[in-house]
Amino acid sequence: MPTREEIVVLAQTALAHAYAPYSKFPVSAVVVAKSGRSYVGVNVENGAYPLSRCAEQIAVGAMVAAGDREIREVLVLSTSGEPATPCGACRQILSEFADGETPVVCRNTAGKELRFKLGELLPAAFRLEDAR
Ligand code: THU
Repeated sequence: MPTREEIVVLAQTALAHAYAPYSKFPVSAVVVAKSGRSYVGVNVENGAYPLSRCAEQIAVGAMVAAGDREIREVLVLSTSGEPATPCGACRQILSEFADGETPVVCRNTAGKELRFKLGELLPAAFRLEDAR
Protein backbone atom coordinates (compact mmCIF):
# COMPACT_ATOMS: atom_id res chain seq x y z
CA MET A 1 0.00 0.00 0.00
CA PRO A 2 1.25 3.52 -0.70
CA THR A 3 2.08 5.69 2.32
CA ARG A 4 0.11 8.84 3.02
CA GLU A 5 3.16 10.83 1.92
CA GLU A 6 3.29 8.99 -1.41
CA ILE A 7 -0.41 9.61 -1.96
CA VAL A 8 0.03 13.33 -1.28
CA VAL A 9 2.97 13.52 -3.71
CA LEU A 10 0.84 11.86 -6.41
CA ALA A 11 -1.94 14.36 -5.78
CA GLN A 12 0.44 17.33 -5.78
CA THR A 13 2.03 16.26 -9.06
CA ALA A 14 -1.36 15.83 -10.70
CA LEU A 15 -2.71 19.11 -9.33
CA ALA A 16 -0.36 21.00 -11.66
CA HIS A 17 -2.18 19.34 -14.57
CA ALA A 18 -5.72 20.26 -13.54
CA TYR A 19 -7.59 21.97 -16.36
CA ALA A 20 -9.65 24.61 -14.62
CA PRO A 21 -9.46 27.78 -16.76
CA TYR A 22 -13.06 28.78 -15.98
CA SER A 23 -13.38 28.27 -12.24
CA LYS A 24 -9.65 28.73 -11.58
CA PHE A 25 -10.19 26.12 -8.87
CA PRO A 26 -7.78 23.24 -9.55
CA VAL A 27 -8.50 19.94 -7.84
CA SER A 28 -6.78 16.57 -7.92
CA ALA A 29 -7.88 13.26 -6.49
CA VAL A 30 -6.10 10.01 -5.73
CA VAL A 31 -8.11 6.82 -5.43
CA VAL A 32 -6.19 3.97 -3.80
CA ALA A 33 -7.64 0.60 -4.72
CA LYS A 34 -7.63 -2.42 -2.44
CA SER A 35 -5.05 -3.92 -4.83
CA GLY A 36 -2.65 -1.23 -3.60
CA ARG A 37 -2.58 0.57 -6.95
CA SER A 38 -3.24 4.32 -6.99
CA TYR A 39 -5.13 6.26 -9.61
CA VAL A 40 -5.04 10.01 -10.10
CA GLY A 41 -7.53 12.42 -11.58
CA VAL A 42 -7.84 16.16 -12.00
CA ASN A 43 -10.78 18.33 -12.82
CA VAL A 44 -11.22 18.78 -16.57
CA GLU A 45 -13.44 21.75 -17.34
CA ASN A 46 -15.15 22.63 -20.58
CA GLY A 47 -16.26 25.87 -22.22
CA ALA A 48 -19.72 24.30 -22.19
CA TYR A 49 -19.66 24.48 -18.40
CA PRO A 50 -21.95 21.56 -17.48
CA LEU A 51 -19.65 19.17 -19.33
CA SER A 52 -16.86 19.83 -16.83
CA ARG A 53 -15.68 16.80 -14.89
CA CYS A 54 -14.48 16.58 -11.31
CA ALA A 55 -11.14 15.13 -10.29
CA GLU A 56 -12.74 12.25 -8.37
CA GLN A 57 -14.75 11.16 -11.39
CA ILE A 58 -11.64 11.06 -13.59
CA ALA A 59 -9.71 9.07 -10.94
CA VAL A 60 -12.52 6.52 -10.59
CA GLY A 61 -12.64 6.15 -14.39
CA ALA A 62 -8.88 5.49 -14.51
CA MET A 63 -9.26 2.89 -11.75
CA VAL A 64 -12.04 1.03 -13.53
CA ALA A 65 -10.23 1.17 -16.88
CA ALA A 66 -7.19 -0.44 -15.24
CA GLY A 67 -9.28 -3.29 -13.84
CA ASP A 68 -9.70 -2.29 -10.18
CA ARG A 69 -13.15 -1.97 -8.64
CA GLU A 70 -12.66 -1.66 -4.90
CA ILE A 71 -11.60 1.60 -3.29
CA ARG A 72 -9.55 1.53 -0.10
CA GLU A 73 -9.07 5.28 0.38
CA VAL A 74 -9.57 8.62 -1.39
CA LEU A 75 -7.56 11.83 -1.15
CA VAL A 76 -8.83 15.11 -2.61
CA LEU A 77 -6.34 17.98 -2.92
CA SER A 78 -7.17 21.62 -3.60
CA THR A 79 -5.40 24.95 -3.22
CA SER A 80 -8.35 26.47 -1.38
CA GLY A 81 -8.38 27.98 2.10
CA GLU A 82 -10.65 25.17 3.24
CA PRO A 83 -10.00 21.71 1.79
CA ALA A 84 -12.60 20.96 -0.90
CA THR A 85 -14.98 18.10 -0.17
CA PRO A 86 -16.39 15.94 -2.99
CA CYS A 87 -19.54 17.27 -4.64
CA GLY A 88 -22.75 15.31 -4.28
CA ALA A 89 -22.41 13.60 -7.65
CA CYS A 90 -18.87 12.48 -6.85
CA ARG A 91 -19.98 11.06 -3.51
CA GLN A 92 -22.40 8.86 -5.40
CA ILE A 93 -19.76 7.90 -7.99
CA LEU A 94 -17.32 6.94 -5.23
CA SER A 95 -19.99 4.94 -3.42
CA GLU A 96 -20.37 2.61 -6.41
CA PHE A 97 -16.90 1.24 -5.63
CA ALA A 98 -16.53 1.96 -1.90
CA ASP A 99 -18.46 1.46 1.31
CA GLY A 100 -19.54 3.71 4.14
CA GLU A 101 -16.31 3.09 6.06
CA THR A 102 -14.00 4.14 3.22
CA PRO A 103 -11.80 7.06 4.32
CA VAL A 104 -12.07 10.26 2.29
CA VAL A 105 -9.29 12.72 3.13
CA CYS A 106 -9.74 16.29 1.93
CA ARG A 107 -6.55 18.32 1.99
CA ASN A 108 -5.36 21.72 0.89
CA THR A 109 -1.89 22.61 -0.33
CA ALA A 110 -1.17 24.27 3.02
CA GLY A 111 -1.50 20.82 4.59
CA LYS A 112 -4.85 21.23 6.34
CA GLU A 113 -6.84 18.02 6.30
CA LEU A 114 -10.48 17.13 6.89
CA ARG A 115 -11.08 13.42 7.32
CA PHE A 116 -14.38 11.73 6.67
CA LYS A 117 -15.82 8.30 6.10
CA LEU A 118 -17.76 8.09 2.86
CA GLY A 119 -20.86 7.14 4.87
CA GLU A 120 -20.69 10.49 6.66
CA LEU A 121 -20.53 12.35 3.36
CA LEU A 122 -23.29 10.31 1.74
CA PRO A 123 -25.57 8.53 4.16
CA ALA A 124 -28.11 6.18 2.59
CA ALA A 125 -26.27 6.10 -0.74
CA PHE A 126 -28.30 4.72 -3.60
CA ARG A 127 -27.29 1.20 -4.57
CA LEU A 128 -29.27 -0.33 -7.37
CA GLU A 129 -28.73 -3.86 -6.12
CA ASP A 130 -30.06 -2.96 -2.66
CA ALA A 131 -33.01 -1.04 -4.06
CA ARG A 132 -34.32 -3.68 -6.46
N1 THU B 1 -14.27 20.09 -8.15
C1 THU B 1 -13.65 18.86 -8.17
O1 THU B 1 -13.04 18.48 -9.17
N2 THU B 1 -13.73 18.10 -7.06
C2 THU B 1 -14.26 18.52 -5.87
O2 THU B 1 -14.20 17.77 -4.90
C3 THU B 1 -14.90 19.82 -5.77
C4 THU B 1 -15.05 20.57 -7.04
C5 THU B 1 -14.12 20.95 -9.35
C6 THU B 1 -15.31 21.10 -10.23
C7 THU B 1 -14.97 22.41 -10.94
O3 THU B 1 -14.09 22.14 -12.02
C8 THU B 1 -14.22 23.20 -9.88
O4 THU B 1 -13.78 22.26 -8.92
C9 THU B 1 -15.04 24.28 -9.21
O5 THU B 1 -16.24 23.78 -8.78
